[in-house]
Amino acid sequence: MATIIKSLSILSILFILNSIPISSSCPIHQKQALLQFKSTLTTISNSNSDSNSDDYIPFTELDSWDPKTDCCTWDRVNCTRTRNKTRTVVELYLYSVVPLLETPVFSNVLTPVFGIRTLKVLDISMNSLAGEIPGDGIGNLTGLVHLDMMQNNFNGSIPRQIFGLTSLRYLDMSSNSLEGELLPEFGLLRNLTTLVLSVNHFKGSIPAELFELESLRVVDLSNNSFTDGLSSEVGKLRSLESLKLNENFLTGNVPDEIGNLTKLTELSLAQNQFFGGILLSIGNLKNLESLDLSENLLSGQIPAGIGELVNLTTLDLSKNRLTGPIQSSLRNLTKLETLRLKNNMLTGEIPSWLFKMKTLKKLFIGGEASRLIWNNKTKIVPRCSLEQLGMPSCGISGHIPEWISTQKDLDFLDLSGNQFEGGFPNWLAKMDVGSIILSDNKLTGKLPPQLFESGSLSVLALSRNNFSGELPENIGNARTIMILMLSGNNFSGHIPVSISKIYRLLLLDLSRNRLSGPVFADNPLLAYIDLSYNEFSGEIPVTFSTETQILSLGGNKFSGDLPVNLTNLVNLEHLDLHDNNITGNFQDVIPQIVSLQVLDLRNNSLIGFMPKAISNLASLRILDLSGNNLAGSIPREIGNLARMIETPDMKPTVDIFNFLIEFQDLLLNWKNSFRGLSSRKLDIYSFLDLSNNRISGEIPATLGNLKGLKLLNISHNRISGNIPVSFGNLEGIESLDLSHNEISGLIPQSFSKLNQLAILDVSNNKLMGKIPTGGQMSTMNELNSFANNSGLCGMQIRIVCPEDIRPSDDHEVEDETLSWFSWEATWVGFPVGLFSSILFMAYSLNFLNLRSFRIL
Ligand SMILES: *[C@@H]1O[C@H](CO)[C@@H](O)[C@H](O)[C@H]1NC(C)=O
Ligand SMILES: *[C@@H]1O[C@H](CO)[C@@H](O)[C@H](O)[C@H]1NC(C)=O
Ligand SMILES: *[C@@H]1O[C@H](CO)[C@@H](O)[C@H](O)[C@H]1NC(C)=O
Ligand SMILES: *[C@@H]1O[C@H](CO)[C@@H](O)[C@H](O)[C@H]1NC(C)=O
Ligand SMILES: *[C@@H]1O[C@H](CO)[C@@H](O)[C@H](O)[C@H]1NC(C)=O
Ligand SMILES: *[C@@H]1O[C@H](CO)[C@@H](O)[C@H](O)[C@H]1NC(C)=O
Ligand SMILES: *[C@@H]1O[C@H](CO)[C@@H](O)[C@H](O)[C@H]1NC(C)=O
Ligand SMILES: *[C@@H]1O[C@H](CO)[C@@H](O)[C@H](O)[C@H]1NC(C)=O
Ligand SMILES: *[C@@H]1O[C@H](CO)[C@@H](O)[C@H](O)[C@H]1NC(C)=O
Ligand SMILES: *[C@@H]1O[C@H](CO)[C@@H](O)[C@H](O)[C@H]1NC(C)=O
Ligand SMILES: *[C@@H]1O[C@H](CO)[C@@H](O)[C@H](O)[C@H]1NC(C)=O
Ligand SMILES: *[C@@H]1O[C@H](CO)[C@@H](O)[C@H](O)[C@H]1NC(C)=O
Repeated sequence: MATIIKSLSILSILFILNSIPISSSCPIHQKQALLQFKSTLTTISNSNSDSNSDDYIPFTELDSWDPKTDCCTWDRVNCTRTRNKTRTVVELYLYSVVPLLETPVFSNVLTPVFGIRTLKVLDISMNSLAGEIPGDGIGNLTGLVHLDMMQNNFNGSIPRQIFGLTSLRYLDMSSNSLEGELLPEFGLLRNLTTLVLSVNHFKGSIPAELFELESLRVVDLSNNSFTDGLSSEVGKLRSLESLKLNENFLTGNVPDEIGNLTKLTELSLAQNQFFGGILLSIGNLKNLESLDLSENLLSGQIPAGIGELVNLTTLDLSKNRLTGPIQSSLRNLTKLETLRLKNNMLTGEIPSWLFKMKTLKKLFIGGEASRLIWNNKTKIVPRCSLEQLGMPSCGISGHIPEWISTQKDLDFLDLSGNQFEGGFPNWLAKMDVGSIILSDNKLTGKLPPQLFESGSLSVLALSRNNFSGELPENIGNARTIMILMLSGNNFSGHIPVSISKIYRLLLLDLSRNRLSGPVFADNPLLAYIDLSYNEFSGEIPVTFSTETQILSLGGNKFSGDLPVNLTNLVNLEHLDLHDNNITGNFQDVIPQIVSLQVLDLRNNSLIGFMPKAISNLASLRILDLSGNNLAGSIPREIGNLARMIETPDMKPTVDIFNFLIEFQDLLLNWKNSFRGLSSRKLDIYSFLDLSNNRISGEIPATLGNLKGLKLLNISHNRISGNIPVSFGNLEGIESLDLSHNEISGLIPQSFSKLNQLAILDVSNNKLMGKIPTGGQMSTMNELNSFANNSGLCGMQIRIVCPEDIRPSDDHEVEDETLSWFSWEATWVGFPVGLFSSILFMAYSLNFLNLRSFRIL
């Protein structure tokens, strides 16, 4: 009954509408479709939050969609008048309208919308819609000219129905999780002017058909996984205005035909693997305003033709292999605002005309491989007004040049890796610069307190200079600091109490100074704390924020028991307390910090044992407990440490803070000397060092599960029993040290499977029998590594095993010598280079690159 009344009333409305001659209102079925869409969203929104609860947010986004009014007057809806004078909905702007919920909202909420066949513009961007693109519904909107699906969670591949929308001019599917190859059918969208597919997972090659679309003006395929080189067909797109192919792993030469795209205003091929020279034909692209070829493998000189691109405002050639001087024709670019040439192999003098370019706002030159030189006789009288200046590793000496003080808008200054001397200039302290990076120079003296009265300082990096004195008491007045790096200086005294007032502090690196006294670092957001190699003493502080991810306190004089409150640091990934005098039971605290990935407690005075619960540490990749007083036996459960089982992922993880972590070198005993491992690469290592304790019992066979280990050291303990055969499964092992124990029996034949083995030490045990041969084992001929056992034999130590002695006569003996000789010859020829994967990281701190800074 109710439905009949409902349909009756709809009928009557229809009747009324039809009887009104000036039908300026939108068609009733379209209005109903829109209201149905609204009602679905309202239902979803309400069912996800309780209207009585405090955090109830009513759904108000479509409040103007009032059933009593004409839908053409609603927000986000545009109508047009058709020939018969009725109006019909043609544009729908439904961006950011679907409520953000924890449970995914699927694209079927759009179903009513697909009934509005007259649509020309449909914008459903920024809605976090899940599932596949609703090809069936969108395919029905054959009149679509503009389709924006940016920033949803669409997955799967592009539905074929899209290629039926031949009127499309604008198509944006960026920032989804779409995958698959781009189909040749793109060639059907003949009217397409803008194609944005960035930030998805598309792969394969870019189809040549794309380059037959003569109307295309803007192409953005950046941040995908395309692999092949760029088709030379790109030259056919004569009307192209913007081409962006960043981060696609496209490789090969940049096709010469790019020079035919004379309408281009924006060209970006950044973060691919294009090699060869920068094309001379680039000089044809006279309309270019922005040229970004950064992070490729381009070589050769910067062509003079670039100076003809008179409309350039941005030129980014950084991180390539360009050689030769800074091209003088760049002087002719009278609109240039951003010039990035950093991290190339450019040579010659840094020209002073750079600073005379009136329009220049951002300048980045120098960097790691740069061989640019600075003529300190040149007097700089700048005419530019720089906002950002990066001149790292430019070989500049003397005092920090005072002309910088004329740059009133300066917000970023990086002069790291030069040879500056003298004090921190007072004029610089007064300038209110946002980021000051002067690491790796020879600066001396105290820090001027004025520096910390700044209202904008967010990054201060002065590591590895020769600054001294106490840290200014007013350091906490610089409330805006996020990153403070003062490592490797000569600072002494206490950490000023005021430091805990710096609310936004994320990273604090005071390592390698002579600081002492109590530690204040309880800032609420502080995630990275490095106070290692100072003279701090007393108990391990526990007042750190629960945001703490990295805590390095090694090489100090901390004492007392391992504090139980460390278990409050629920985000702690990296705990380094090595070389202190920490006592207490290992098993009481550590197994409860389940977030740990790296744990270094080397050289302390810990007692207790490794409990079964050690396997709680499911993320642990690096464990160094050497040089303590741990007793008991190694628990079987150690074989469950998941991250030591996985073969490490060679792809370093990418996260926003990655560039920050690089300051954190972890020193580990690697192949008998202490090496700093770049923590950016830490993800790819897996180490276990239990040496120099009082561990006894037998080696659990489960230890052989840890296939991901590169280093295993259980030497200098009281371990007995046999070496488990399962050690042959340690396929990643490069260094294995079992020396100075009471291990007996044979070295298992399975050792011949250890293809990565470079260092083996089994000396000072009770081993006997034949040392296995085959694979890397045949190359293990270091006598000391087998010394002091109970009867080892084998070619490696030139002791013939009884089983190898044949009935002898004089001739045989001669043969024996001969064969030793030929064995030796084989060793020389054996590829020992299988173990080259470790990066020996010097203290290079060239991590502060601006790309990352923009994220901050
Ligand atoms: C269509 O609607 C949008 C957003 O409501 C508005 O900005 C735009 O001016 C309208 N366009 C036309 C042609 O009415
Ligand atoms: C007007 O034309 C549209 C199509 O353009 C059609 O859907 C609609 O029914 C027509 N209205 C009247 C009153 O004829
Ligand atoms: C797409 O995402 C949905 C949920 O977000 C998931 O259920 C589905 O399996 C995904 N499909 C593909 C092809 O990944
Ligand atoms: C698309 O159109 C077909 C035929 O007109 C119809 O059967 C189908 O339900 C429509 N799909 C959607 C999602 O609107
Ligand atoms: C493509 O654009 C042209 C010119 O604007 C137009 O005449 C033609 O109808 C469009 N094609 C389609 C399929 O919409
Ligand atoms: C590329 O996309 C990933 C996410 O897929 C994002 O984290 C990263 O920042 C993007 N890179 C650029 C340069 O936009
Ligand atoms: C590029 O332009 C040159 C000269 O105008 C022409 O010979 C060549 O065929 C063009 N290449 C393409 C791919 O259009
Ligand atoms: C540079 O830009 C101006 C203004 O946008 C334009 O008038 C001029 O044609 C452009 N010059 C070249 C060589 O394209
Ligand atoms: C700058 O342009 C002028 C004329 O446009 C030209 O004569 C001169 O050689 C150019 N300078 C450089 C350094 O290329
Ligand atoms: C210029 O550099 C030279 C050599 O590096 C150095 O000896 C000299 O003191 C410097 N002069 C000034 C003014 O910094
Ligand atoms: C240790 O943590 C507990 C709560 O987990 C807290 O009550 C206590 O004050 C903390 N002790 C110290 C010394 O911070
Ligand atoms: C470590 O601390 C213990 C007492 O807790 C003390 O006896 C010992 O001398 C200390 N060792 C060092 C090297 O300071």
